[in-house]
Amino acid sequence: MAKTVLVTGGAGYIGSHTVLQLLLAGFKAVVVDNLENSSEVAIKRVAELAGEFGKNIIFHKIDIRDKEALEKVFASTTFDAVIHFAGLKAVGESVHKPLLYYNNNIIGTINLLEVMSAHGCKKLVFSSSATVYGWPKEVPCTEEFDLSATNPYGRTKLFIEEICRDIHISDPDWSIILLRYFNPVGAHPSGHIGEDPRGFPNNLMPFVQQVAVGRRPALTVFGNDYSTKDGTGVRDYIHVVDLSDGHISALQKLFDGSEIGCEVYNLGTGKGTSVLEMVAAFEKASGKEIPLVIAGRRPGDAEIVYASTAKAEKELHWKAKYGIEEMCRDQWNWASMNPWGYGCPDPAD
Ligand code: NAD
Ligand code: UFG
Repeated sequence: MAKTVLVTGGAGYIGSHTVLQLLLAGFKAVVVDNLENSSEVAIKRVAELAGEFGKNIIFHKIDIRDKEALEKVFASTTFDAVIHFAGLKAVGESVHKPLLYYNNNIIGTINLLEVMSAHGCKKLVFSSSATVYGWPKEVPCTEEFDLSATNPYGRTKLFIEEICRDIHISDPDWSIILLRYFNPVGAHPSGHIGEDPRGFPNNLMPFVQQVAVGRRPALTVFGNDYSTKDGTGVRDYIHVVDLSDGHISALQKLFDGSEIGCEVYNLGTGKGTSVLEMVAAFEKASGKEIPLVIAGRRPGDAEIVYASTAKAEKELHWKAKYGIEEMCRDQWNWASMNPWGYGCPDPAD
């Protein structure tokens, strides 16, 4: 029998790619999303891309803080596990609106956990972030590093990790995998789904993409005086399809009968790439020049962050396959086919 997975935030960037991989792997997916930072078009396209498996997706427009609505979803379906993506993620906005972030991310998660518990669904995969490593003292970051947060968004990730550890201690029936994502970029190779941030893009590649399609004049490089190969910040960029596959591996671990408890895994490639290297790779993939404006460092930014991938490789049997060439190729494919994201029809519609 096909297993059924509830995916919160499944219309979003990482969620939509993961739902597609879930469907292709034979799972049934029920998506709940309030569409605060996403579009229902993504769900439609995922169903199309999944071909014969497209019938195995159900979408509910629900805010996870609406407990009654969540209750109804759990009353109508028995879930084998939950993948919990739903959350707000803009670091700068979280500094200005901390209560919004604590309300949405933490209260939303507590609601979800309560409803799961009430319905005996105790297998969870949660979207944590490399942001919990703060400015790491050394690299690569291993899962045992000290944790810290420099902004309310990061604190919501830290708190939710702690909540998960606590509920497992209180009730060992829970099996929880916390996935710490490094920097997800790229898009599905078809070009039909990808990242479509609302408003001003906070992250590097969505910004680069908007410069390439003429929506913005230049990329501002935040700092060229770091102690790195070219002075710009270094990150571990990971193709969103690799990241999505990491969730399938995590689910397999939850279902394979082993004692998991509450376990944490990095999802990254283990390779560090500078801002200028990423821009050069994107220029090569797209044939577009990205004008640069060099500015000062962005407050709160770390110098070099990349993952140790050993634990995920050993215990989840997962390893990223794609490099920055494929990430940039697929990001450009999505951007050129959908220069306004889901805001206007793509040629295939
Ligand atoms: P996204 O904004 O594209 O997706 C999040 C989805 O959650 C959106 O569709 C949004 O509408 C939905 N949502 C938000 N609050 C909700 C609520 N209260 N009820 C129902 N739906 C709600 O973001 P993403 O990049 O796909 O990120 C997914 C998760 O991964 C988030 O939790 C994010 O913090 C985490 N994460 C992302 C990154 C990254 O760089 N993209 C890095 C580390 C961790
Ligand atoms: N950068 C620029 N110009 C921009 C945007 C970013 O130069 O317009 C630089 C940053 O200074 C940094 C690098 O590009 O050196 C990557 O920045 P991102 O904002 O894309 O990514 P971060 O590593 O700063 O943070 C992101 C998310 C966090 C998450 C973290 C790890 O915003 O929430 O990845 O997953 F925690």
